Amino acid sequence: MIIMSTTEKARVLLQNQLDEGKTQTERNKLGQFATPTALAIDILEYASALLPLDFKIRFLDPAFGTGSFYSALLQRFQRAQIVEAVGYEIDPHYGDEAIKLWAKTSLQLNIADFTSATPPNSNKAKANLLICNPPYVRHHHLSRIEKLRLQNKTEQTAGIKLSGLAGLYCHFLCISDAWIAKDGLAGWLIPSGFMDVNYGQQIKEYLLNRVTLLRLHRFHPKDVQFSDALVSNAVVWFRKAKAPANHAVEFTYGGSLMNPNVKEVISVDVLRSTVKWTNFGLGSNSINSNCQQMKLSDLFIIKRGLATGANNFFVLTPEQVSTYQLPSLFLKPILPSPRHLLVDEIEADSVGNPVLDRQLFLLACNLPEDEVKAKYPSLWRYLHLGVENGISDRYLCKHRSPWYLQENRPPSPFLCTYMGRADTKRGRPFRFILNHSMATVANVYLILYPKPALAVALSQKPELNRSVWQALSEISDETLMGEGRVYGGGLHKLEPKELGNAIVSITLQS
Ligand SMILES: C[S@@+](CC[C@H](N)C(=O)[O-])C[C@H]1O[C@@H](n2cnc3c(N)ncnc32)[C@H](O)[C@@H]1O
Repeated sequence: MIIMSTTEKARVLLQNQLDEGKTQTERNKLGQFATPTALAIDILEYASALLPLDFKIRFLDPAFGTGSFYSALLQRFQRAQIVEAVGYEIDPHYGDEAIKLWAKTSLQLNIADFTSATPPNSNKAKANLLICNPPYVRHHHLSRIEKLRLQNKTEQTAGIKLSGLAGLYCHFLCISDAWIAKDGLAGWLIPSGFMDVNYGQQIKEYLLNRVTLLRLHRFHPKDVQFSDALVSNAVVWFRKAKAPANHAVEFTYGGSLMNPNVKEVISVDVLRSTVKWTNFGLGSNSINSNCQQMKLSDLFIIKRGLATGANNFFVLTPEQVSTYQLPSLFLKPILPSPRHLLVDEIEADSVGNPVLDRQLFLLACNLPEDEVKAKYPSLWRYLHLGVENGISDRYLCKHRSPWYLQENRPPSPFLCTYMGRADTKRGRPFRFILNHSMATVANVYLILYPKPALAVALSQKPELNRSVWQALSEISDETLMGEGRVYGGGLHKLEPKELGNAIVSITLQS
């Protein structure tokens, strides 16, 4: 249990009052999610374990808020050790009150944008202990101009060209390089997404080549440290010094920094050659020597499901099929939209139809009109209804010949729902579906067609279908959301190419 100092109690109270004075949207915009007291204390306690006794501290928090880290610093270190304490906070709503709260201490809090501030010139004036929980503002929420400014600044200050997909926290980390003294210690509380996704590559290079990465601790995703922000967090510790030869990094998982559940030491050489770092620190069993990391585009051809041009006309219930006496020859099973698909694994009956409450069929006929008219009068009558109702004049239909022709999308065992919200009841924006049926899908799904090598492996060992599906389902939401884009109201979307960039850990040989 954490015993709060009187000042910390006052700070938490102030934090809550200030948070209540803002809407969730306003707070999201500036990444205003405070570090809980227990976590701030854990972080400063770990910093004190890394620093010599009596170490003279020049502290910097570039995203200060009301000062949860500063408060923990004052609790965990002697006042005499704190030579200097500097903070930056862009928002006077928090900053002005924080200045009042800490008025009796030596804190110099600047109400300013840290990413535009000028770092000290001399090494002596730079911080030797930087602790930061930077704003988690995803790249979609940065304007084009702001993103360009940040990219230029990051390149000028740290020589790192960050991807356009990097969130604000990546820029904070790189820009602050110019603020840390030689041998200074830095502890960053950041989303763990950078460990796996493409945009994190430059951050990983920075951590491996420019500083000495000491430790990477990840919290258990279920143990979300921030009740009001949906992220899996990591704490990254490094020293601003070149890493010694044969350096190894401590990866820890779960529990707290001072008392993690799992510990593992991984050499920098292994880290250099591994794309996905979240596999480390989960315990020795988790790293399977047969396990390979591959881009989905190495394993699958990914296509969007078919665009019928008029679902109401071409996608039919069994009742409609019987009313219009449509020939079964031209009917293919098709899955309902993800909203109506309550299971993630689809069983099939003896003829390959999906076993679902809601059965649907796609009308798919590629015979020319003359032939339909001559041989299939009931189908001809139905198509004629489509002409009368203007279906044949709709954009997609009009550009096809014959107008009722459908794209060819054979069934595949692997499907992905590529549009969704992170805040649904299921809690996951994207779902992977294992489809045992012969049903095709409309363009509300992405279809993953196994490439030849995988297709051969699956045909030799059908039980691998399930392992592949499980591996797909284990791709973290952070990874998928990092590849895709987000629309207003929190709707996440993935294009086939974006899904192809996601990395999966997969074991294909036993
Ligand atoms: C995740 S909060 C962390 C606050 C505090 N350090 C804590 O851990 O509780 C990030 C803070 O950074 C501030 N911020 C956002 N953009 C900033 C910027 N460009 N420069 C300085 N502060 C910024 C936000 O207003 C917010 O208070």
